[in-house]
Amino acid sequence: MKLEDTIRSAFEKAFPGEDFSFVRVVPATDAKFGDYQCNDALKLAKKFGMKPRDIASKVAAALDNECFEKVEIAGPGFLNLTVGEKWLAQSVAALDAASECGIPQQGAGKTVVIDYSSPNAAKQMHIGHIRSTVIGGALDRIFRALGYNVVADNHLGDWGTQFGILIKGYRECLTQEERDNLSVANLEKCYVLSAAKAKEEDGEWKDACKAELVKLQQGDAENLALWKKFIDISICEFERMYAKLGVKFDTYRGESYYNAMMPGVVEKLLKAGLAEESEGALVVKLEEENLGVAIVRKSDGGYNYTTSDLACVESRVADYNPERIIYVTDDRQKLHFAQFFSIAAKMGYTVKLVHVPFGLMSFKGKAISTREGNLIKLDDLLSEAVRRSYEIVKERGGDEHLAEQIGIGAVKYTDLSHDPATAIDFDWDKALALDGNSGPYLQYAHARVCSLLAKAAQSPAGSPDDSATEAPGAFDKRLALQLLEFPGAVVRAAEAYKPSILADYLYQTAQVYSSFYQNTSVLKSPEPVRSRRLALCALFAKILAKGLDLLGIEAPERI
Ligand code: ARG
Repeated sequence: MKLEDTIRSAFEKAFPGEDFSFVRVVPATDAKFGDYQCNDALKLAKKFGMKPRDIASKVAAALDNECFEKVEIAGPGFLNLTVGEKWLAQSVAALDAASECGIPQQGAGKTVVIDYSSPNAAKQMHIGHIRSTVIGGALDRIFRALGYNVVADNHLGDWGTQFGILIKGYRECLTQEERDNLSVANLEKCYVLSAAKAKEEDGEWKDACKAELVKLQQGDAENLALWKKFIDISICEFERMYAKLGVKFDTYRGESYYNAMMPGVVEKLLKAGLAEESEGALVVKLEEENLGVAIVRKSDGGYNYTTSDLACVESRVADYNPERIIYVTDDRQKLHFAQFFSIAAKMGYTVKLVHVPFGLMSFKGKAISTREGNLIKLDDLLSEAVRRSYEIVKERGGDEHLAEQIGIGAVKYTDLSHDPATAIDFDWDKALALDGNSGPYLQYAHARVCSLLAKAAQSPAGSPDDSATEAPGAFDKRLALQLLEFPGAVVRAAEAYKPSILADYLYQTAQVYSSFYQNTSVLKSPEPVRSRRLALCALFAKILAKGLDLLGIEAPERI
């Protein structure tokens, strides 16, 4: 932000040779104090052995006052800043002209891998998958907008004991017709039947499943072909969901991709003295960090989730040389990630590893992401969203397509407007409300400003009025300042891995716009006020659409 640079250079001028990169300028808590404030003089009192007020005065004196109309020192040493009209007009024009709505390209030349959605193959996606897909999808878009080279990697659960059960079930629990028209629903069905039989007393079925699994692991051509078929069908089905949700992956490297690398990982751990034997298993002790003990090779010689994720880091570093890897999963996996991040650091990996854990989504207090039980299918939830929003839009002459944009947007926005770390109790009425903090409210605000702009293009401009050249009013200024915050909101959302920061910003911006619109007249204003206000409206429309796009939500021009 240019303002921050101005303040920093005033600090540097007042106190040469010091590092002031920590200095921040934040919006004023109350408009009566000005537009922005800087509170960092207080942090320097001890270091400089000076009263914070004196530090603030020195900084104020060193300020090159191009940006500010008024600079005041308040309280113990706050700098209250009121921006000047010229600076504001120039900044708004610069933001309007900037590409990507002024989002800084701070990721240029850097790669980030985002590991998200990652469902288990051969099962239908359910409501428990929505958050990883939607939060990961938004982070994907936000990091791309910041100029990062993003690798969206779907770490499918495509390996494990379930495939023995599936292969046996496929051969013996499905009809020929079901086999010919194999779908994920059929796979799920044969899994349930086969798993039930595997629980039978005599253990014959269970042994047969085990035998199929061993054959698969040993590379038996027929079983491998079946396994491949199950994975392909699963990805095809997942992609149908991803298309509805506006999410796209660059690669689907599931757990199986890392199989061959696991013995090498364990070898490295042994060589580095990080792993040790314990009751027949191989473990890495992390008790000193309060992370318990992580098994990296089970007593039966098999590898596990930790080994697989370590192999995965090795492979991603080798293939993409990423600056960081972001994993989006539910918060029950916190310990797993803390453990393997710690082991990876001990192994010498310097890539930044970030876990973005999210809380459960429930429906009227009922958990909808449990290990067992009847999970609501993602497909059904999305259809329900479209059906419900169709009821709303059809009264306004809206069609199916609009219902999809609004219904899916409503579900996504509900997820994204909550801090990922918190749990969500999903409520249809709230999600679809046309007022309040909802997706439809923002989409509607966008459509309304679009229709205002269309009207303006058709109605003649007002005649110039000399008395109208007075300074922009408080509402104009408030809206302009709010719009200038957009690039910063995108940066903060990325830094915190919280799309909710961007959602909050958009909601707040829509509210500021709404009070601007209610308290000023746009179309009926004389020139040049009318044009100036229309420019603000157009910038609001552009920023709102861009912000929604970064959340993966569509912004139709008409509702
Ligand atoms: N398949 C896992 C699950 O369904 C999520 C995988 C997350 N990614 C990872 N590299 N561990 O819970």
